[in-house]
Amino acid sequence: MSAANKQTVFSGAQPTGQLTLGNYLGALKNWVAMQDEYDCIFCVVDLHALTVRQDPKALTEQIYDLAAVYLACGLDPDKSTIFVQSQVPAHAELAWILSTFTQMGELERMTQFKDKSLRHRNNINAGLFTYPTLMAADILLYNTHKVPVGADQKQHLELTRDVAVRFNGAFKPVFEVPDPLIATTGSARVKDLQEPNKKMSKSAESDLAKVMLLDEPKAIIKKFKKAVTDSKGVIEYDEENQPGVANLLNIWCAATNNTLHTALDHFSHNMYGKLKVESAEAVNAILTPVQERYKEISSDRGELQRILSQGAIAAEQRAEEMMVKVVDALGMPPRLRKQK
Ligand code: TYM
Repeated sequence: MSAANKQTVFSGAQPTGQLTLGNYLGALKNWVAMQDEYDCIFCVVDLHALTVRQDPKALTEQIYDLAAVYLACGLDPDKSTIFVQSQVPAHAELAWILSTFTQMGELERMTQFKDKSLRHRNNINAGLFTYPTLMAADILLYNTHKVPVGADQKQHLELTRDVAVRFNGAFKPVFEVPDPLIATTGSARVKDLQEPNKKMSKSAESDLAKVMLLDEPKAIIKKFKKAVTDSKGVIEYDEENQPGVANLLNIWCAATNNTLHTALDHFSHNMYGKLKVESAEAVNAILTPVQERYKEISSDRGELQRILSQGAIAAEQRAEEMMVKVVDALGMPPRLRKQK
């Protein structure tokens, strides 16, 4: 199918330090699988990262590191558009416009805002509050049909849809109304290994709580062995009463592409030790090749920059086409930037 007949996919991750296994299983693994069927756009969302204070030198490294991880996981610049958000100014521009179509009450309800303002009490900046309008701009700029994300982004996606419908209704149908694509399996919300009622997050204080994409195999085995389970001693899938075991089963399923049914067949009548070790081994089997490719790709900064510039040029062209329609709908003078 030619790009013109394919539906558009947009997604992104923040360059705020190493990705976790949650980011990988909940998002990146699915992105890689969509590249043939969809016209895919994947972004390193550095403007979003600014909502928490960043050290400039570290931010630069984090941006290139994340781009290298994208490529190492299998995102392919020959198939997909891969770029850094700040290199396409239309994102910030549309975010402003969309913020005037978003109610304070809607933003106040966002659980991510509530969580982050608790964690960064001395920096509850306006960007943290309006973050979802930037995310809506990212998505709506590209006529996006599908947005593959983990379950934690569902609320932001609902707001994006509401804003698109509101804008279209006020003027004319300018924006495609996107659908979230969230796995219906446990990989949509990989849990913390120490507190399995919480999602696995980069910001967890304990190292044992999170598996990082670039963790050494030995460290991964250790983290899984120390994963919190329960005292029932039976391997069943019960998210409420055995969240640790359910999480390990979900991870094993996602890492081996097996169903829960197969997992329960495979592990029932076994002890937790086997589930922990086999989950760790399955994770190592997918992460070790990613880590090897990452080392190679991240050693060539020039090539990475070339790929990202090429992506930004392609993205900018498409974003500009949308901005022409947006300013026209709003009744503003035409854009002065050159259209190809
Ligand atoms: P971010 O950077 O927090 O996470 C990137 C992706 O990883 C998913 N994810 C998880 N999935 C399953 N289990 C987990 N424990 C887990 N932790 C993270 C996230 O759901 C996400 O899909 N706001 C977004 C970035 C963004 C974006 C966008 C995404 C900005 N603009 C436009 C899609 C479309 C974020 O902070 O993701």
